[in-house]
Amino acid sequence: MNVPSPLIPVSQQARDIDFLFQLMMAISGVIFLVVAGLVLYSAFRFRRRSDDPLPSQDFGNPRLEITWTVIPLLIVTAMFFLSVWTMHAVDPPPLDRQPDIDIVAHQWWWEVHYPETGIVTANEIHIPTGKNLLFRVTSADVVHDFWVPQLARKIDAIPNRMNHAWISAERPGLYLGTCAEYCGVEHAWMRIRVYAQAPEEFAAWQQDQLAIPARPTSGQAARGYALFMKLPCSNCHRIAGTPAQADIGPDLTHLGSRQTLAAGVLENTRGNLEAWIDDPQKLKPGCNMPNLQLEPLQLIALADYLKELK
Ligand code: CUA
Repeated sequence: MNVPSPLIPVSQQARDIDFLFQLMMAISGVIFLVVAGLVLYSAFRFRRRSDDPLPSQDFGNPRLEITWTVIPLLIVTAMFFLSVWTMHAVDPPPLDRQPDIDIVAHQWWWEVHYPETGIVTANEIHIPTGKNLLFRVTSADVVHDFWVPQLARKIDAIPNRMNHAWISAERPGLYLGTCAEYCGVEHAWMRIRVYAQAPEEFAAWQQDQLAIPARPTSGQAARGYALFMKLPCSNCHRIAGTPAQADIGPDLTHLGSRQTLAAGVLENTRGNLEAWIDDPQKLKPGCNMPNLQLEPLQLIALADYLKELK
């Protein structure tokens, strides 16, 4: 899949924010060069020469002081209004409609709901291109921050509070994001992957996600199913169409269709999945998934079953 440079904004609001950033960077850059240049010039031009007498002393110059107060004031005022304008441009309108996407941040992964269809996924968000989507974000534990810089503004995920923002992508692609508020030991591994798809591809993805995976009837996968329901796995995870209906950990109904595991720690391959179930603490130390001390055969069965959940 096409992964555009993370520095290129792909939505109007990301472009507005990028413009503000570039402009402030340029203004700050010019100020830095002028100030540093004057300091260097003065240090050289007025350096001490061995036989110099004490230079004439200067005790203030009102005109100069007013000038160097007024110019920064004008610059800061201009920056203030540009910031307010950008904030206004990226802010959501009145919130009298249901969000398109509902996001709940957890230590250390993202729960993602699509209220209209009832689709639930984790860490990987699919959106149709060319559509401005309203999303709502909150947290199940501590403060996190949802940030996909190419598509949307940064927005805090705060327990017991709903924050709203818009997200959109003009072009298909994979857009990477991350948690941007320090939230504990695995803060670095709360990656977000937004897959922007052409509307018909997005519709196909929706159809796939709405299907309830068939229950395996034979082989390792069937053993894996039985193990999953018997072991503590089903106390934390949900798999649609099965007795496992918990929502402590990520929904696994379509785990096999996701590209990554553990909020971006691993690529979702058969081998990595087995390694992950075997010892989550080794791969993501401090995460909330325990090591269940499983036998090798149990691991094979579980990984076979979960890999089939497409
Ligand atoms: Cu969640 Cu940092």
